[in-house]
Amino acid sequence: MRIPIIGGNWKMHRGVPKDAKEMLEQLIPLVKDLKNVDIVIIPPFTALSVVEYVKGTNIKIGAQNMYFEEKGAFTGEISPKFLKDIGCEYVILGHSERRDIFKESNELINKKLKKALSIGLKPIVCIGEHLEEREQGKTKDIIKSQFEGTFKGLSKEDINKVVIAYEPIWAIGTGKTATPDQANEVHQYIRELLSSNYDKELSENLRIQYGGSVNPSNASELFEKENIDGGLVGGASLEADSFAKIIKVTQI
Ligand code: 13P
Repeated sequence: MRIPIIGGNWKMHRGVPKDAKEMLEQLIPLVKDLKNVDIVIIPPFTALSVVEYVKGTNIKIGAQNMYFEEKGAFTGEISPKFLKDIGCEYVILGHSERRDIFKESNELINKKLKKALSIGLKPIVCIGEHLEEREQGKTKDIIKSQFEGTFKGLSKEDINKVVIAYEPIWAIGTGKTATPDQANEVHQYIRELLSSNYDKELSENLRIQYGGSVNPSNASELFEKENIDGGLVGGASLEADSFAKIIKVTQI
C-alpha cells in the first residue's frame, strides 16, 4: 500500500521564520493525530530553521531547490549537505517554475537528483506539460522526455526513494485543476514508464503526487483516484486551516 504524501510548497511566501512558525503553531495540533500520511512543509530557505520547531511532530521539512555540488565558489546557491545537516528531509527538484523561469534543464535536474540521493535527501521530482502541449496532444511525449531526461542513469534502488509530482503547468496557480480523470491518466502513464524502465513492482510502489490548484474542495475527488498518492499544494498550503483540510482528506 502506498502511503499518501501531502506537500505544502510555500514558494516565495512565509519566508520569515516568525511567520512560518505562526502557521506551524496552528497546523501542528490540527494534524497531530493523523496516521498513514506523510506531511511535508516546504518553506523558503530563510525559514528552514523551523526544522527545530517541528521536531517530535509528524511534520517533516523540505527545501524548494538545491545545487548539485556540496561546497565551493557558487555564490547564491545552496548546498544539499547544508540542507541535510540542518535536518531537512525532502527537496523539490525540477519544479516547473525552476524549469521555465530559471531555465533548468533535464540534465541539470538529473545532476541535482543524483546528488540529493547520494546525500540522503528525499527528492520530490516535478514533471508536467504546458497548456499548448496538452492542446496539441503532446502530453505523453513531454512526460516521457522529462521522465527519461530527469531520471537518466538512476538505479532501481535510487528511483525507489523518489516521489514524483505530476504538475500540469496550466493548472498551477490558475485555479484551473486537472480533472481527476485527466490527472489519473497521466499518473497511470508515469506508472507505465516506471514499469517499462524498471519493473512492475516498482511502478506499483512509487508514490506519485498531483499538484496544480489543489484545495480543500477538490482534494478528495483527486486523491481517491487509484494512481494519485496525495498532492503537492501551493496556495492552499499557506494557511493552516485549508492545508489541514487537504491532509485530512487522506484519512477518509
Ligand atoms: P498551486 O497549488 O498554487 O496551484 O501550486 C501548485 C504547485 O506548484 C505546487 O508545487
